[in-house]
Amino acid sequence: MAFDLAHTRPHRAKMVTSRSGEMVLGDNLAERSASRLDFQSKTLRSPLDEFEKRFQQNMKGLLQLGVHTFKPETNYGDAQVLPLEGKSVDLIVTSPPYASNAIDYMRAHKFSLVWMGHAVDDLSMRRSKYIGGETVADVEIEQFPSQTATILGEVTALDRKKGVALRRYYSEMTRVLSEMFRVLKYGGTSVVVVGSSILRGRDTETQNCLAEIGQSIGFEVPKIGIRHLDRNRRMMPAGSKINLDSQIQQRMHEEYVIGFYKPQSHNDLDKAL
Ligand SMILES: C[S@@+](CC[C@H](N)C(=O)[O-])C[C@H]1O[C@@H](n2cnc3c(N)ncnc32)[C@H](O)[C@@H]1O
Repeated sequence: MAFDLAHTRPHRAKMVTSRSGEMVLGDNLAERSASRLDFQSKTLRSPLDEFEKRFQQNMKGLLQLGVHTFKPETNYGDAQVLPLEGKSVDLIVTSPPYASNAIDYMRAHKFSLVWMGHAVDDLSMRRSKYIGGETVADVEIEQFPSQTATILGEVTALDRKKGVALRRYYSEMTRVLSEMFRVLKYGGTSVVVVGSSILRGRDTETQNCLAEIGQSIGFEVPKIGIRHLDRNRRMMPAGSKINLDSQIQQRMHEEYVIGFYKPQSHNDLDKAL
């Protein structure tokens, strides 16, 4: 009955109808015409039919792109320790997690993980290892450049626990950015899409902190683009009125596209050495 698995928050559908049109849940609400009910209604669909439909759609799109002209390879691993050779990658495009458990990715992944053979009992251990988690035991903390350290200090003063979680997040992202720097070829680029978070009213400025951390590692950051998210097309719809007290609403109407460039000059430096 989960309303929205893909976007992970535990919203439960209030009115659920089967494929044949039978009311499975929320009979008592059917008479109401409140506009919110549109957002709260769900028709059950067969996951296998849906999988096939989306698979066909994706195949069609991929064939149009002509990707059959090269052989893709899929691999998995931890973004903090990439299973890739140094200086072997031309381009990275990625969207890392939000800071401080803002989105529960495990909630979106758990069914897939179990279908792929992971034990249910392992899921909470895996969740704690996801970047951006809130537990801080056994997490190595990195040194931060000045602007990031200032924001960390401010958040910690407002809420110690959230400050510590943010420190974990920026430490993990420092390792992710270092790995990107290691695996990219000189002149290679990493495009990173991030959202910021509001913790106790303070914007974590994730885009600026990651840019600063990247620069301290050796990247150039020529630009941070802003992408406005369409309120109505989000999978997790924001309310129709702007509510400045809502952290979710404040956080999620913009995302940032950071361009990290590994300069050629490092190559020249290497040669000189
Ligand atoms: C903002 S989402 C990006 C989703 C992705 N664009 C997609 O379409 O599936 C961030 C993803 O990073 C994953 N993640 C968390 N920790 C990770 C790690 N250490 N290494 C690699 N991925 C991680 C999360 O599970 C989540 O799926």
